[in-house]
Amino acid sequence: MAANLRRAGEHPTRVTTLRQTVIAGIKVALGAVLLTFFCNVSVAQKTPRPATAAKPQVSADAARGKYIVEGVAMCGQCHTPRDDSGAPDRSRNLEGAAVWLVSAEPVADWPLVAPRLAQSPPGTDADMVKLLTTGIWGGGKPLRPPMPQFRMSTADAEAVVAYLKSMHSEPH
Ligand code: HEC
Repeated sequence: MAANLRRAGEHPTRVTTLRQTVIAGIKVALGAVLLTFFCNVSVAQKTPRPATAAKPQVSADAARGKYIVEGVAMCGQCHTPRDDSGAPDRSRNLEGAAVWLVSAEPVADWPLVAPRLAQSPPGTDADMVKLLTTGIWGGGKPLRPPMPQFRMSTADAEAVVAYLKSMHSEPH
């Protein structure tokens, strides 16, 4: 188009100017159509990409956390209330429970409750990660047994926290 304009400036006849203007107009219109088309195509191609890239990252962490919580560390053995038959009540998964384990030896300070973990864990993310990687709770001390002193990797602890926080979206 720039070439056309330059040529239009050099003593053109009326006919060629008109023809060039029409051709230039068609080119611009075609260009606009093509540009719109390609923009739409590239937008259509790009839009789902961040969504699919971001989503599995979050749910992959939570899925790993779920595996650790339910399949390895068995938090629900103590933190999920039990039904009448003594089985963990899955409809109240990790909602906090009376401690059913008793010590074989008398222990003065045996805890009565394993608090709720689902949805909003009882500490900041940093507290939770510290607890699960070192066994030390926010106050600077280990929790009382039978709460295990976990030594998870930071990545595992973060996955557990991601899962616990994601639990509100799970159907009960
Ligand atoms: C064998 C039983 C048992 C298991 C398994 C267990 N806990 Fe606990 N947990 C307890 C008890 C009992 C307490 C209360 C300890 C206390 O009061 O000192 C507790 C306390 C906690 C607390 C502190 C809550 C608060 O408000 O003070 C957190 C956080 C916690 N547990 C997380 C977990 C996570 C996460 C898992 C699994 C990765 C888990 N626990 C597995 C028994 C258990």
